[in-house]
Amino acid sequence: VYDVVPVTVADYRRLAMRRLPRFLFDYIDGGANDEITLAANTSAFRALRLKQRVMRDVSSVDTSTLLFGRQASMPLALAPVGMAGMFARRGEVQAARAAQRVGVPFTSSTVGICPLEEIRVATSQPFWFQLYMLRDRDFIGELLERAERAGCETLAFTIDLPLPGLRLRDFRNGMLGGGWPGKLSRLAQLAISPGWAWDVGIRGRPHSFGNLADKVANPEDLDAYKAFVDSQFDPRCTWKDIHWLREQWRGKLLIKGLMEADDARAAVDAGADGVVVSNHGARQLDAVAPSISKLRSVSEAVGADVEVYLDGGVRSGIDIAKALAFGARGVLVGRPWVFAMAARGEQGLVELLDLFQRELATAMALMGVNRVSDLNAAVMDQGCAYVP
Ligand code: FNR
Repeated sequence: VYDVVPVTVADYRRLAMRRLPRFLFDYIDGGANDEITLAANTSAFRALRLKQRVMRDVSSVDTSTLLFGRQASMPLALAPVGMAGMFARRGEVQAARAAQRVGVPFTSSTVGICPLEEIRVATSQPFWFQLYMLRDRDFIGELLERAERAGCETLAFTIDLPLPGLRLRDFRNGMLGGGWPGKLSRLAQLAISPGWAWDVGIRGRPHSFGNLADKVANPEDLDAYKAFVDSQFDPRCTWKDIHWLREQWRGKLLIKGLMEADDARAAVDAGADGVVVSNHGARQLDAVAPSISKLRSVSEAVGADVEVYLDGGVRSGIDIAKALAFGARGVLVGRPWVFAMAARGEQGLVELLDLFQRELATAMALMGVNRVSDLNAAVMDQGCAYVP
């Protein structure tokens, strides 16, 4: 009777778990292998301590900032998440609308369900487009053209997926492979998720696998789609390909998915306007360090005119403050937005994002800071590193 309003990411996660078929929930929630890094991404944030500062006139706290030259209400963007249109009806459209209402960028994944053009029609604010390096380079050219026509100004190019990581939950629950037993298990899971089945499975049709739809014979066949996508990831990629990509794309280029300072320098040499320090939300290499632990060395390695973002484990407005203190221009959030949208649709996502902003603004006031540009190493309590 008391827990009526979801207020944290954990609350929305619980609601999403109840609503989604298990294989979709696990696909979102899970990480690679033993999920060591998955746990570390969030616990590393929790271990950081801030300084309480007082008597500083914090009557004009302002969380707004510029992300690639565009005004945002806070230093946050929605991370690209594949298949978001399966988690809520026309999910990418709902998320893009929520992002617009709150005033933060939305990123459309290469492997979204709603095509770029549908998102474009539903919104007026420019959104970001995320691309993987596909073997079919002509197709990359086509996608870039479509993104430009859809008004995308920022391309997030993801480089930490030469091949998909081993997300063992996806094998266990029949999401990937598993033959007939896997298919039957999926059907059984759908049968006990009637709310989702009606809203997304039936009313949300067609599930056209948006940006890649033309390339799959039966775009509603999840196995065929996965097989096509997996065959397209290109493990031969090197920085040369980023130089090539730079020539193809006129807008801002954000290189997503690096952890080491050397790699960040290479990205900048290849023409990146920004980088995302990221381990792909712990879905690729398990046992790699939590992304927040690598942020400071990356932000010190690249010049001040390169925008450094962080993702992985951001679960509150306070986490945004911590990331900015270590040199980030902004954060991306993945699972938080997906859970809020799966649980409560566009409105749920607006409420979660509003809460993040309120948490950030409150923390800034209590740290004695009025502007996000004042969030730097000085707000961290260096002497107090809590080890869980
Ligand atoms: C992702 N991520 C991702 N990244 C990307 O570049 N393209 C994609 O299509 C996807 N797809 C995807 C699906 C799901 C279900 C998740 C959870 C994540 C990674 C994403 O952009 C981001 O890096 C992480 O989600 C950040 O970590 P948190 O915020 O989820 O902890």
